[in-house]
Amino acid sequence: MSEHDVEQYRITEAPYYRSVGEEVALYEAAYQARMPVMLKGPTGCGKTRFVEYMAWRLERPLITVACNEDMTAADLVGRYLLDADGTRWQDGPLTTAARIGAICYLDEIVEARQDTTVVMHPLTDHRRTLPLEKKGELVHAHPDFHLVISYNPGYQSLMKDLKQSTKQRFGALDFEYPEAAAEAEIVAHETGVDTETADKLVQVAHRARNLKGHGLDEGISTRLLVYAGSLIAKGIAPRAACTMTLIRPLTDDPDMRETLDQAVETYF
Ligand SMILES: Nc1ncnc2c1ncn2[C@@H]1O[C@H](COP(=O)(O)OP(=O)(O)OP(=O)(O)O)[C@@H](O)[C@H]1O
Ligand SMILES: [Mg+2]
Repeated sequence: MSEHDVEQYRITEAPYYRSVGEEVALYEAAYQARMPVMLKGPTGCGKTRFVEYMAWRLERPLITVACNEDMTAADLVGRYLLDADGTRWQDGPLTTAARIGAICYLDEIVEARQDTTVVMHPLTDHRRTLPLEKKGELVHAHPDFHLVISYNPGYQSLMKDLKQSTKQRFGALDFEYPEAAAEAEIVAHETGVDTETADKLVQVAHRARNLKGHGLDEGISTRLLVYAGSLIAKGIAPRAACTMTLIRPLTDDPDMRETLDQAVETYF
């Protein structure tokens, strides 16, 4: 195992995660059953933070892969590299995770092409194996290995969705923006702003979230609220902070920007 430096994948400090339902217990049970898990939910609602927290809690190393459409099976599984001494096999992140017993987090899995996603199939059923065809090796996953994937259900077109044969290999947890009090607690904790300011930021977000589908593709995420709070905590005036973090990133439509400006001005 010398080839793999497990320590670099360990999460040594407890990540701050505010649980919003039963997700911690459900994930833990799924992990004990070695059932692969799929996290669904909009951008910036806490999926990545949750996985980091669970990896820390379960004391497993975490290997995260950001998926994209150019990704090939070799990017996940591994490939031969040419170096001065000839060719050398290099494990991809999925293979490394399977060997060392890490939690492998495939982020935005639908971005990957379907011929790429199928390589994980044998890892997700009773076989728990990963064939390295080019190398002629069958990797048996470490008993602690766990696979978790995320995707944002809103963004998929019909062309870009997971095959049923992929979907039905996972238990799924739905994530949403936390309810108001919990979200304010998160914003206050992450940024150091006072509760009153955090509450107001959350109220602005609720206004914007009501506009989803009525001119906005997506509401203001918890992540953006944390951005707003962190500027305010640095001494930026709340309106300017909100403009930069809650309005400008979201839309270029002048009318929509004005509507959002008004929402901000209602509270700040
Ligand atoms: N339940 C929570 N507990 C603690 N922090 C949270 C929680 N939810 C959201 N956050 C905050 O929101 C930020 C964004 O969350 P995160 O990166 O986990 O989103 P995500 O769902 O993975 O988004 P994406 O789909 O864009 O990757 C975090 O960095 C954290 O500050
Ligand atoms: Mg994420």
